[in-house]
Amino acid sequence: MNNERAQWSSKLGFILAAAGSAVGLGNIWKFPGRAFEGGGGTYLLVYLLVVVFLGIPLMLTELTLGRASQSNAVGAFRALGHPRASWAGWTGVLGVFIIACYYCHVGGWVLRYVFAYAFEAPAVYADSPGYFYNMLGLRPDGTTVFPWAAVGFAAVFTALTALVLIRGVSGGIERFNKVGMPALFLLLIVLLVRAVTLPGAEPGLRYLLSFDWEKFSMETVLSALGQAFYSLSIGMAILITYGSYLPKTENIPKNTLLVCAMDTLVALLAGFIIVPAVFATLGADQVGKGGGFAFVSLAGVFEMMPGGRIFGVLFYLLLLFAALTSSVSILESVVAFLTERFGWKRRGVTIWLSVVVFAIGCLYTATQAAYPIKGIWLDAAHGVSHPAFCDFLEYLSDRLLIPLTALGCCLFVGWVWKPENVMREVERSGVRFPLRGVYRVIVKYIAPLAIGAILILSLVAGRTLS
Ligand code: PHE
Repeated sequence: MNNERAQWSSKLGFILAAAGSAVGLGNIWKFPGRAFEGGGGTYLLVYLLVVVFLGIPLMLTELTLGRASQSNAVGAFRALGHPRASWAGWTGVLGVFIIACYYCHVGGWVLRYVFAYAFEAPAVYADSPGYFYNMLGLRPDGTTVFPWAAVGFAAVFTALTALVLIRGVSGGIERFNKVGMPALFLLLIVLLVRAVTLPGAEPGLRYLLSFDWEKFSMETVLSALGQAFYSLSIGMAILITYGSYLPKTENIPKNTLLVCAMDTLVALLAGFIIVPAVFATLGADQVGKGGGFAFVSLAGVFEMMPGGRIFGVLFYLLLLFAALTSSVSILESVVAFLTERFGWKRRGVTIWLSVVVFAIGCLYTATQAAYPIKGIWLDAAHGVSHPAFCDFLEYLSDRLLIPLTALGCCLFVGWVWKPENVMREVERSGVRFPLRGVYRVIVKYIAPLAIGAILILSLVAGRTLS
């Protein structure tokens, strides 16, 4: 194995890769629905505040942990002299492994929909929920079959991800993002213009731009918190890994700001595309229908748009780009961990890991509609419950492992390694650390309290927050 650690070959390479990791299914499919449910403009404001006060400091913290330790997420704590804090790396790698299992499959469904709009748009329009569930193995007559098509496309998506990874950090990840990210922005702008000029889009726009205290609640805050963490890829071992490839000369605060800004911009763009478009075509009550939203509700939008089929293909291509740049980052942090910890070869690790992740993911896809395999869950409000296996995977990552990892990182930096070390590492590149006092208060008190609230709500009250 090559002992020299990989490095980003250019500044742009890193920014695009981190932004590529952040911008994903979360921004384009989850965010708009949440923005609608959370009160439109009210939610947007809360979300922006969360990004500024928690997202930015936490991203900066994780990137700095990576660069200071020059290590993957588990090794980072040991390298900084605190092996006992490594548990936060383990929960991160485990969380990201679980996310990998389902992300590759949802990516496959997106790929399936590129083809659906290209070749069978009338069938999608005729019965969009039916089409979606048919893909997942539930036939119109109520019988179920193994979802071969969805699984087949997931295999292609996983293979694509593996291919980018095998090419390594600068050859694969960087080059891929340099094309993928600008293409994504371009497509979003085209869709934005189309969506806001649709007749009837105006009430949707107004809804997103108005603030209403009545719609503000603790739930809005918690939903925004969960969404911001997921969307910025915080609490998943990813930013530590990506930070470790960052040269010592790089300005971490500036990079952090750029990545957070890009991620938030894409989420806002997606919100301003989807919410007005759905208002215009389907009516307000259709917005934000959770998991099926990107696949089911949007069909009505494309059907009623002139040139809808082309916009459909474009939209799913865009989602595919976004999902691929994220899935690459997700698998990369597990690959980095396995190659460094066990000295295994990158190529072999990537191939085997992809196979395992894909195989577990088959259960994710198969239990959406076709097979009743259950997981197990425990929370104080509902006691022991048996969610569908697919939900079980998401609970494990979103409700447990992501918040635990983020909490571990803040507590470690705030109380063990000390914020001063973060500042010193940041200042190595010759920049001054901005707002020292504010950062110290956030990382020591505000962030742990906010993340603690997420954990308590999900494990005690049994509430879904992301
Ligand atoms: N942040 C990505 C998104 O918004 C998803 C992601 C999850 C990326 C986990 C990396 C790790 O979809």
